[in-house]
Order: sequence, then structure tokens, then C-alpha cells
Amino acid sequence: MKNVFLINHPLIQHKLTMLRDKNTSSKDFRALVNEVSMLMAYEVTRSLPLEEVDVETPICKTKGKALHGLDVAIVPIMRAGMGMVEGMLTLIPNAKVGHIGIYRNEETIQPVEYYCKLPTDIANRLVIVTDPMLATGGSLRDAITILKKRGAVQIKAMTLVSTEIGIAEVHRHHPETEIFTVSIDEGLNEKSYIVPGLGDAGDRLFGTK
Ligand code: PRP
Ligand code: URA
Repeated sequence: MKNVFLINHPLIQHKLTMLRDKNTSSKDFRALVNEVSMLMAYEVTRSLPLEEVDVETPICKTKGKALHGLDVAIVPIMRAGMGMVEGMLTLIPNAKVGHIGIYRNEETIQPVEYYCKLPTDIANRLVIVTDPMLATGGSLRDAITILKKRGAVQIKAMTLVSTEIGIAEVHRHHPETEIFTVSIDEGLNEKSYIVPGLGDAGDRLFGTK
């Protein structure tokens, strides 16, 4: 699949299995989402541009590489996407964080936007949208549309569990958006929950059900 990056590192896949386990507590679920997000940040930022810089080691002067010019904005889709922010900030501490609030209407399954606060210089940043679940794709599709309307140009998405149908929906509207994910699951059930999935990510993160 074009512009889809399946991250199948053994450490990440092991943690995903723990996330899927319905007996994993909210406390452990939060910690695992945090750890997986930190590991994924390594892959998502692989294309950040570098420049050559002078550096003096204790032995001699030499050239080194340093990050150049492209700052990062992490934009979680609330609520569940917020669980992925801390882990990413561990690796990218200077990133700014925006928030987009979107929930799925339980009857129609259509995304409803309720909040948006983004860094003012979003157009000049690599924007990494985070949301653990990419089910029908409506929430991520709309989040990217909002970001583009606010001037964002370079946008990547980071999810934990995705479906082919959800990815296709996002790419129908935003074909250039790279999606980094840990699993592409079988599909959706009659309530549009991912199968086998991991349940309601927001509820499991925040202990609301
Ligand atoms: C979940 C999830 C995604 C969305 C995915 O959010 O975190 O944002 O559903 O579904 P979709 O691909 O079909 O749009 P939810 O609506 O449960 O809100 P929450 O994060 O506040 O719990
Ligand atoms: N949102 C979730 O939290 N889980 C799913 O399986 C689908 C949407």
C-alpha cells in the first residue's frame, strides 16, 4: 500500500498484544501507549532534514550532522490521540503540541469536530497527527482537512491499529499523507469497532468505561 508504513518491530508488536488484552489495566494501557509512541516517533521522524555542522570533540575539530530547519508539531485527535503525545515528546522535546477535538457520533459513526487549537506557525512545521485507532477513517480524514485549512502542508499520521477501509478513506481525500501504523486489522464490526482491535482506546486510556 502506497504511503502506508507498517512498523513491525518485535518490541512494538509485543506491546501491541498487551494493549489488545482486555485484562490490561488503564494504568498499564497508558504506559504501553506511551512506550509504543516513543518507539514509533523514531520511524516517523526518519525523513527529518539534516545539515552539516562544525563540532569540536576532545580530540579534534570535525563535521557532524544536526537537525535543520524543519520543526515539528504533534497534533493529537482528542481524546485518545492525547495518550500518544508524551512518548513522542520524549524523543522530540522541542515539538509544539496542537489539539483537535473530534468524536464519533455513536449512531451515525460520523465524526463531529468540537475543538481546535494549533500552533500559529503550523504551516512551517512537520505535523504529526496522532490517534491510536483508524477505523472508518472519518476522524483522521477530517483532522487532516482541518489542518490543511489552517495552512499545514507537511502532514503525517501515526496510529496504532488501522483498517484497510480506513486507510483508503483517508487516502481518497489526502493521498499524499503518510500513515505510520503498527497493525492493519481484519475489519470493522457492526458498531464500526475494529476487529480484533483493542476496544475503545479513549475509554481504556482514561478509565471511563
Ligand atoms: C475514536 C478514535 C478515533 C476514532 C476512530 O475516537 O480515537 O478518533 O474513534 O474512528 P473512525 O476512524 O471511524 O473515525 P472516539 O470517537 O471514540 O472519541 P474519544 O477518543 O474521545 O473516545
Ligand atoms: N474507536 C475506538 O476507540 N476503537 C475502535 O475500534 C474504533 C473506533
